[in-house]
Amino acid sequence: MVSLPDDLNDALESALARFSVNDMTQATRRLIQQYREGFDSADIVLGSEIDVAAYAAYRMPATYAAVHTALRHTAALAPTFAPQTHIDVGGGTGAAVWAAAEIWPSLKEVKVLEQAPMAAALGGRLARQAVSPVVRTATWSRATIGNKVLKGPSDLVTMSYVLGELPPAVRDGVVRSLAADTSMVVLIEPGTPAGYERIIAARDVLIGEGLSVVAPCPHDGACPIPRGKDWCHFSVRLNRSSLHRQIKTGMLGFEDEKYSYVAASTQAWPDRPDRVIRHPQKRKGLVSLQLCTRDDGLTDEIVSKRNSDAYRRARNISWGDAWDSPREDGDRGQGPEA
Ligand SMILES: C[S@@+](CC[C@H](N)C(=O)[O-])C[C@H]1O[C@@H](n2cnc3c(N)ncnc32)[C@H](O)[C@@H]1O
Repeated sequence: MVSLPDDLNDALESALARFSVNDMTQATRRLIQQYREGFDSADIVLGSEIDVAAYAAYRMPATYAAVHTALRHTAALAPTFAPQTHIDVGGGTGAAVWAAAEIWPSLKEVKVLEQAPMAAALGGRLARQAVSPVVRTATWSRATIGNKVLKGPSDLVTMSYVLGELPPAVRDGVVRSLAADTSMVVLIEPGTPAGYERIIAARDVLIGEGLSVVAPCPHDGACPIPRGKDWCHFSVRLNRSSLHRQIKTGMLGFEDEKYSYVAASTQAWPDRPDRVIRHPQKRKGLVSLQLCTRDDGLTDEIVSKRNSDAYRRARNISWGDAWDSPREDGDRGQGPEA
């Protein structure tokens, strides 16, 4: 379960206190409908103060959870990557800024590029209440992405939940420019078939630019998932605050955010383990894993209690985790990433 950091939670509560729950509920309904039905990419979706407030209340916890999880998996496979600079493109209210600062304490300088002035204003206001100096001093620039992103060099570039808002014709060019002068690019999209298609197209562009995939794929070859029949995505459970519950008119204290992502680096990191691509089935004495593997495409692996080391690891594994298959002569693997 992922929760917003306490300082972000406090900042959100105080920034949103002046809006009525009723207005935010209406705005949330409108945004959900817009995201579901699609919109003209010439429109600025987060164009009003109330829409930005609603976005921060009902979407930011979910995008934060997805970005945080994708970055955590990335960091686990690039253990010596210690970025100092980060650019977040289409940063909205700043979910990725907070997530990256938590995953990489090495960060010293963060820039956010965002077209919607009110989203940037709220993002900046929230960030200034952060405990982390790098979040507090993040700079927010107004920028509309066209065919490419004029961003300058950076160790880390993130773009979360933005590709789908860009016209299809500019997406490849945008991804190409994200890869320039950057060590690591991480792209996150909704875990829908359409979100996955955008990620897989972006992955091809990143590989074409000479980058290697870090996560989630165990290889740089073609995705083995049969197109049109299934899609690679993951799920993260997040806490819903009481405001979140009220404006989404949901009863549950949590929700599951589905997301697709790709992280690619100019450095080829060794040891890319297999990836668990569905909820593991855990029965008495057996754990059954659906895996995307480096050498054998999609496989099912059954781990039995007889292999006690592997079984212990498999009991703790989750959908989206990396998995080292046990060797014939015993277990070699490591547990799920921290
Ligand atoms: C769904 S929000 C995602 C915000 C944030 N990245 C997150 O994960 O919560 C999409 C963001 O992309 C921004 N955006 C969309 N098209 C853009 C463009 N052409 N140039 C710059 N920003 C853009 C929107 O204003 C919005 O803030």
